[in-house]
Amino acid sequence: MTLLDGKKTSEAIQSEIAAEVTEIKAKGGKAPHLAAILVGKDGGSMTYVNNKVLACERVGFASTLLHYGDDITEEALLTKIKEINENPDIDGLIVQLPLPKHISSDKVLEVMDYKKDVDGFHPVNVGRMVAGLPAYLPATPYGIMQLLERYNIDTKGKHCVVVGRSNIVGTPISILMSKCTLPGEATVTICHRNTVDLASHTRQADILIVAVGKPGLITADMVKEGAVVIDVGTTRVTDATRERGWRLRGDVDFENVAPKCSYITPVPGGVGPLTISMLLKNTLRAAKKEVYS
Ligand code: GUN
Repeated sequence: MTLLDGKKTSEAIQSEIAAEVTEIKAKGGKAPHLAAILVGKDGGSMTYVNNKVLACERVGFASTLLHYGDDITEEALLTKIKEINENPDIDGLIVQLPLPKHISSDKVLEVMDYKKDVDGFHPVNVGRMVAGLPAYLPATPYGIMQLLERYNIDTKGKHCVVVGRSNIVGTPISILMSKCTLPGEATVTICHRNTVDLASHTRQADILIVAVGKPGLITADMVKEGAVVIDVGTTRVTDATRERGWRLRGDVDFENVAPKCSYITPVPGGVGPLTISMLLKNTLRAAKKEVYS
């Protein structure tokens, strides 16, 4: 069994990005610039956004954090986004989700300039990804693809079972794995909350990708011997032995599943650390006008 080390892979990607930024600056170019919008005071979201800003500094990017109270109106937020769309100094924009209930995330994502949508959530980027055209790929699926690629995991003709169908992870990774580019070329099954007899599907998986946010859902009896298991779940569960009172737990019962696997991601330290690196990668691609001119 080999652990898919997301931390090490993430560090490698960030050094590659930092080296490119150094080169861009040495040639007199400007640093890639990411703007991040955060609404409200959700603990998880504040941590994620702060980590994104810190990561920008680490690789030499400029960043702007716009933090609004959860009383900001939808109209005011849409106006801010339009201003950023028009600001030529800003290459990439993300709006941290979820948003408060009175703000439509669909409207927010659609008003964004898709050329700056480095989260890859705008319908234009989603559509282009499905059509196999150059697009910003969402960070988590992009990170999973990087792990498969960098660990030389064979995906061609394999049966990939995806559990979860969210717009952020399950749906895009199922599309990418089925594409005729590598990593991909897999036969894909998507399972969700209405799937009958989940275990009968997961047991057939050569590659099992789980992204539902249900700690320990996948038990050893649900996994085929030799499978590649990618666990995207990161739920905070109470843990009195930790000073902060919680720890992260994945959707896979790691302790019992890991011995059956050829490869498996740990939680934490698997897919999680890659998401920020892939956001940085998209921001670099935006600055270099690699996807859109
Ligand atoms: N909330 C959960 N994941 C993400 C993400 O990748 N990007 C943004 N903007 N919000 C999120």
